Amino acid sequence: MTTEELQTLVLTTLDAKGSIGNTKGIKDSDDKEVDQLALLGALKSLSLDKEMVRYETIEDEIWVLTDEGNEIANKGSHEAKVFEAIPAGEEGIVISELQKLLGDTTKIGQGQAFKNKWITKNGNNLIRAVDSIVDQTRIDLETIRSTGKHLNPKVLAELKKRKLCDKHKIISYSVTKGPQFSLTIEKQARDITAEMLQSGEWKQANFKKYNFDALGIPPTGGHLHPLMKVREELRQIFFEMGFEEMPTNKYVESSFWNFDALFQPQQHPARDAHDTFFLKDPAISTQFPTEYLERVKEVHTNGGYGSIGYGYNWKIEEAQKLLLRTHTTAVSSFMLYNLARKKEFKPVKYFSIDRVFRNETVDATHLAEFNQVEGVIADKGLTLGDLIGFMETFFGKMGVKNLRFKPAYNPYTEPSMEIFSYHQGLGKWVEIGNSGMFRPEMLEPMGLDPEIRVIAWGLSLERPTMIKYGIDNIRELLGHKVNLSMIESNPICAFDLI
Ligand code: PHE
Repeated sequence: MTTEELQTLVLTTLDAKGSIGNTKGIKDSDDKEVDQLALLGALKSLSLDKEMVRYETIEDEIWVLTDEGNEIANKGSHEAKVFEAIPAGEEGIVISELQKLLGDTTKIGQGQAFKNKWITKNGNNLIRAVDSIVDQTRIDLETIRSTGKHLNPKVLAELKKRKLCDKHKIISYSVTKGPQFSLTIEKQARDITAEMLQSGEWKQANFKKYNFDALGIPPTGGHLHPLMKVREELRQIFFEMGFEEMPTNKYVESSFWNFDALFQPQQHPARDAHDTFFLKDPAISTQFPTEYLERVKEVHTNGGYGSIGYGYNWKIEEAQKLLLRTHTTAVSSFMLYNLARKKEFKPVKYFSIDRVFRNETVDATHLAEFNQVEGVIADKGLTLGDLIGFMETFFGKMGVKNLRFKPAYNPYTEPSMEIFSYHQGLGKWVEIGNSGMFRPEMLEPMGLDPEIRVIAWGLSLERPTMIKYGIDNIRELLGHKVNLSMIESNPICAFDLI
């Protein structure tokens, strides 16, 4: 085709149902018909940045006969065949005879011929009811075949229902020359390169235009780690239940707040360097509330508040030692001490979810650090029943329904209870938390009214997270072996699986 010939060219394509194939007369260099998408792609590419052509899309519809429709257009409708097979006169034809003549289509033809009042019955025979007929179905189908249309939409609907014709969409492109029209496609440069600048080639280069409408690659933003997702869910539960978040933003504590304030004796095995990470530099803290420290020393040594104490020689040097906090209960003790100093007591509910450290042998389920979920409620007249009831509500909100409580021991709580839940997947009772009522030996030296009871509990954040996300090795959750795509692709956490 020469340049002059390409004034306006209409390229027509039919949809997949089309009997003419995908495109009409548009062939590629291998003489194969080009499919519609390829054609559109080529037009877009030639028009958009190259501006070689311009095109407009014209949509139209065409009616095409089915095989059966074509057959009728050629040879007449089934009803016309029935009419023609019946000889004129009173005799007519016996039905079984007609069936022999026309075969399978007799029934449809007969029905339609009755409907058209072309035939009637005379005993067992069918006879003509009119002298001559006009086979309108055939005429309609011939019209559709030659024009692709029919003026009466009712006829089209009826013939479509009878599966004699079907509607197709035709998409045509009206193509004209664009400002950069040419019969050869010049390769366009996408980027300006250092070589192009050096050689001066950039001056002649034909640059591809920017496509400001192109969708960018979605940026990979940050993703919350599964632990942080579960933490967020738990925070919402706490907030919903009226809790305040404790400030847990320092990992280093003194032994005093981590152990002594909690009535944990200085010879307790947890205070050994095998269980706790102590700091070397600085190794100690000397900032303590003096009077309170004295009362703590006294309760450890000689007791008080109805207790006989531990009866050992309490040393300040031990309390001064700095460590990486072994539990967030260190923060709870500090918060309760501050609560005791307030002029007026108001019941409080505190929680925190943060990191703690223990000098433990690392294995598939333990690391030297983990996150603790801690809760504290202080009010007058609280009982163990309140603690159990609270646990049931709290864990219930996490989807944990079956709880059992087992007596346990903590130096700072009495009574103490371990919380167990039945794990469907594991088929056994698993420990999910530790809890208790803080001892008077811990609360009263702080200056809290002896009528104030404090119920408290702690659980690991890792355990529910691992169960929830089906992770059985903690190293897949934390540390250098973590697969980043696991973090990206994990869904938000809704507590239903624990
Ligand atoms: N501090 C306990 C632990 O680390 C948890 C706990 C908190 C128990 C408060 C009782 C009361 O396991």
